[in-house]
Amino acid sequence: MSDQRKNDLLAWLRDAHAMEAATIDNLERLIDLADDYPQLKLQFERHLEVSRRQRQVLESQLERLGSDPSVLKDWAMKFAGQMEPLLSRLTPDTMPKNCLAAYAYEAFEIASYRCLMGAAEELGEADLRTICERFVQEEQEMADFLYEHLPEVTRQYLRSRAS
Ligand SMILES: [Fe+2]
Repeated sequence: MSDQRKNDLLAWLRDAHAMEAATIDNLERLIDLADDYPQLKLQFERHLEVSRRQRQVLESQLERLGSDPSVLKDWAMKFAGQMEPLLSRLTPDTMPKNCLAAYAYEAFEIASYRCLMGAAEELGEADLRTICERFVQEEQEMADFLYEHLPEVTRQYLRSRAS
């Protein structure tokens, strides 16, 4: 693999790693807020486990490709700095808005892994391609759950406001 192409791939893998770190932070916060929404809380907990495993797999892939692990932390902070203004504008602290932001974020994750899939394919990284394919499915499951439950979560929120 040429150096430039490998650098691109490594940069995108680091972005994905930072993205999962941000997801993990966000899910931990949402789980604490979701006591009144048991089904949602359970799904958040499931996806937290999935995201932690994804982050671990990305670390292994970065290591395999010779990335310096010490740059990962700086990269995660850079990423958080870029995403936070978007999310903080989107997310007043109500469960419907939290779910809306989570859904938008899942779409971003799906798109990221679709791009990485193409990169892996182009660069002959068959294992990485399989990994990305699985991650797309896992993110899609979470996105589908949110899509299905957004109206009900919003109704429940409004009912709680009426009392
Ligand atoms: Fe994820």
